[in-house]
Amino acid sequence: MATLQDVKNSNLVQQYMNMGNVFIGNIGAIEHNIHHAELTSALCRDILLKLGYGEREAELGAIAGYLHDIGNLINRYGHGMSGAIIAFYSLMDLHMDPEEIAIIMGAIGNHEEQAQGKCVNNVAAALILADKSDVHRSRVRKRDFAQFTPRDRVNYAVTDSKLIVKPEKRMITLDISIDTAVCSVMEYFEIFLTKMLMSRRAAEYLQCEFELMINEYKLL
Ligand SMILES: [Fe+2]
Ligand SMILES: [Fe+2]
Repeated sequence: MATLQDVKNSNLVQQYMNMGNVFIGNIGAIEHNIHHAELTSALCRDILLKLGYGEREAELGAIAGYLHDIGNLINRYGHGMSGAIIAFYSLMDLHMDPEEIAIIMGAIGNHEEQAQGKCVNNVAAALILADKSDVHRSRVRKRDFAQFTPRDRVNYAVTDSKLIVKPEKRMITLDISIDTAVCSVMEYFEIFLTKMLMSRRAAEYLQCEFELMINEYKLL
């Protein structure tokens, strides 16, 4: 059975992920490098394991997490859907089980808020939670503050973020520290509201409550 390691060993996957990140970097989008892929992958696996899902389902989560932004190669707009198709070919090449490929495609195709991503399966829900929790200053590539979009500013404001899963309480907490000199707590909340609501729905899909803490204030 194909594993995350097999996916990582694919030269085509590595090359396309790196090129996609370079392409969207050329239009000033935030960092979607291997670090983001690795982090999302590990977190997605972790969420599923902690909540008691099986090892194999968690492995599918790790693969979906790793590949989720590969569609940036084609266009930032709709990268979830184009990414699902690239994942299809890449995973077919690894002779992965068609049903497993389908789960991963559904998850990748539903991770974007702009494309009205929905929790179509457990992996999709875990992927949304993992991806949306990776907000950090280090992801902003622009160096000129005057060029920042609201999204850049909000990302730049974040000095620390962690997703805490408490299986016994069925509670998932996104705990964020922001530098309020860059952006206020309310501004953060306003700009990231759609992402946060998507995370809440994902937690609910996994029969958990979602909590958002910013600078120790409970906002959701
Ligand atoms: Fe994405
Ligand atoms: Fe992402």
